[in-house]
Amino acid sequence: MTSALLIQDLVKRFSTGKPAVDGVSFDVPAGEIVVLLGPSGCGKTTTLRCVAGLEHPTGGRISIGGRTVSELQRGVLVSPRERDIGMVFQSYAVWPHMTVRQNVAYPLKHRRNGGGGDIDTKVKETLELVGLGEYADRSATLLSGGQMQRVALARSLVYRPQLLLLDEPLSNLDAKLRIRLRDELRRILKATGMTGLYVTHDQAEAVVLGDRIGVMREGKLLQMAPPGEIYNRPADSFVANFTGASNVLLGKVLERKGERATIDLGQAGRIEAWTPQPLSAGDRARVALRAENIRLGERGPANSFTGRVVERRYQGMQTVYDVEFGGQKLEVLELGTAARHSDGEVAMHLPPDTCWAYRDEGQAAVD
Ligand SMILES: Nc1ncnc2c1ncn2[C@@H]1O[C@H](COP(=O)(O)OP(=O)(O)OP(=O)(O)O)[C@@H](O)[C@H]1O
Ligand SMILES: [Mg+2]
Repeated sequence: MTSALLIQDLVKRFSTGKPAVDGVSFDVPAGEIVVLLGPSGCGKTTTLRCVAGLEHPTGGRISIGGRTVSELQRGVLVSPRERDIGMVFQSYAVWPHMTVRQNVAYPLKHRRNGGGGDIDTKVKETLELVGLGEYADRSATLLSGGQMQRVALARSLVYRPQLLLLDEPLSNLDAKLRIRLRDELRRILKATGMTGLYVTHDQAEAVVLGDRIGVMREGKLLQMAPPGEIYNRPADSFVANFTGASNVLLGKVLERKGERATIDLGQAGRIEAWTPQPLSAGDRARVALRAENIRLGERGPANSFTGRVVERRYQGMQTVYDVEFGGQKLEVLELGTAARHSDGEVAMHLPPDTCWAYRDEGQAAVD
């Protein structure tokens, strides 16, 4: 099957500094939603704008629905209008002097590929889909932010483009609405079978919306995988940290067998970890751990330790503990409304599958 979107070795260099997009390759099969996730300035919007044709790539190839739309070497550059894409941005791009219905009907009347079929029916169906059926005749200026964003979405969906591009479409909404619309957005996209490329710096949004997540840093795509894999098998320490594995233990590699490594943590002892990298004995290593994967008050067949709770922060639905552990520090999250541990010694199990070892490029604590 041809990919709905194929990006090969995409490079975009602006006049100054490092490339904004630096050799990015991935493909999106039809009907899949791919989310590009990464910190501010990592090149997400630039990648999206290259796909849209709003930015001219410096190198690489982009094809949409099996048709090359951009390839510098062969002099191919298809204009944005000819790419059969829909776009939704952060700002609510609705026409204020029109009603909701007129806004959504606009592309059907004015786009080259919009025609065909009954416009009224298509608009009605799309408004129902985004939950605005009752608002068809309201002026677009009399809508809340969330409703305006639904109008923008409906306007991009109504002509059924091959590919929908979304750049932080929820970031101007308040927190509650953002969560609701995030869940709904996935339902809507899946209901239409639309292929989507979605850009965000919000990891929770990425996990809920994406069939796959691509984590970017400084113009490079570090890992592209389903959310469960990004969260349980991060390919490098940046991905681990950016998706919330905020604990790091520093040590030295004692041994590695395939994806298993034994790390010497000095005073704290030895820890068994999973690793995606070809570490060698003697390498400095960072072991990343998520706070919610650490089991306080438990022991297991491997990686059982004794730590010391030095601080406890009760947050109602969960409790956060600062645990001292052989001269290093861990943050541990315990779900539930009851805090079960108090200050002082505590048993601790760090399941080896949830300890991820990476090469440490910086200073390690152990010599
Ligand atoms: N028109 C431009 N001219 C020069 N540099 C640009 C231009 N647009 C983007 N950049 C630079 O390219 C890099 C990537 O920018 P981009 O907008 O793609 O980041 P982003 O990942 O979308 O960030 P954010 O999360 O803040 O939106 C940044 O360093 C940015 O300053
Ligand atoms: Mg951006």
